[in-house]
Amino acid sequence: MEGHLRKHSPLKDVRFIIAVGSGKGGVGKTTISILLALALSQEGYKVGVFDLDFYGPNAHLLFKDATLSPFKDTEGFKPAEYRGLKLMSLSFLVSEREPMFMRGPLAGKLLKELTLRVIWGPLDFLILDLPPGTGDIFLEMLQVFDPDGFLMVTTCHKLSLADSRRVLTILKAEEIPILGVVENMFGLFQDREVFTQFLKDNNLHLIFSFPFSQDIAQAESVEVFLEDEAYGALLKDFVSSFLKRVFRIH
Ligand SMILES: Nc1ncnc2c1ncn2[C@@H]1O[C@H](COP(=O)(O)OP(=O)(O)O)[C@@H](O)[C@H]1O
Ligand SMILES: [Mg+2]
Repeated sequence: MEGHLRKHSPLKDVRFIIAVGSGKGGVGKTTISILLALALSQEGYKVGVFDLDFYGPNAHLLFKDATLSPFKDTEGFKPAEYRGLKLMSLSFLVSEREPMFMRGPLAGKLLKELTLRVIWGPLDFLILDLPPGTGDIFLEMLQVFDPDGFLMVTTCHKLSLADSRRVLTILKAEEIPILGVVENMFGLFQDREVFTQFLKDNNLHLIFSFPFSQDIAQAESVEVFLEDEAYGALLKDFVSSFLKRVFRIH
C-alpha cells in the first residue's frame, strides 16, 4: 500500500476519499457517484468527483455546462467546477483514442502521474468513480488513492452480484473498509433472494436502494435532480444513510 502518498500529495487536504465501484459496468457507478456528490454538496460539504473509468470516462456528459473546462497551470490540473462541486474526469486528461493503446504497467504509470497532479484544494469528500472490473487499473487506483471507504454499487441481478464478489476479495486483500452497498435500479431485477443472501454472506450493510427511473435513464444533465422535489427528498435520504455509515466507521 502507498498510503504515505496521501500526506505528501495534492490529496493531503482531503478528509474522506470514498471509492465507488462495482466490478461490472453499466450498473450505475457514475450516476450514483454524481448523485452522492450532489447530495453531499447540497448538505454543505466540499466535494470533488473523479471519474476514473479509464476505458470509458463519461461523468462529464452529465454536466452540460459551458464553464466545464478544467485547465492546466504550472502546478497541475485544476478540476472543472459546477455549483461548487469539483469535477475531474480522465476524459479531460487523456485523449479519446489513447486508452485503447495503453495496457498494464504503462497505463498504470501514466494514470498515477496524472491523477496525483490534480489540484483539488481542501475537500470534505473526494468521490472516486472507479473503472469496472478487477484488473490492473482498478488495483492501481486503489493503491494510489488508499480510500477511506468503499461504496459498492450493484443491482439485484445475479451476474452483477457475481462480479461484486470478486471485488470484495480484492478489498479484503487491500484492507479497504467497505461502507456498504447501494442497490441501484431497484424494481428492475428480481433476484431478491440471491441479493439478500449476498448481503448476509458477506456481512454487508445495505445503505440505500435507488429506484429504477425513466428520468434517470433519460437524464442528459444533473439539473433534473436538482429541480425536482421528489428527487431532492430521495437524495436527502440517501446522503443521510451514507453519512451515518461514514461516521460510524471513522
Ligand atoms: N436508477 C437508475 N434508473 C434508470 N437508469 C439508470 C439508473 N442508474 C443508472 N441508469 C442508467 O444506466 C446507464 C449506466 O449507468 P452509469 O452510471 O453510466 O453506469 P456505470 O458507470 O456503472 O457504467 C446510464 O444510461 C444511466 O443513465
Ligand atoms: Mg461509469
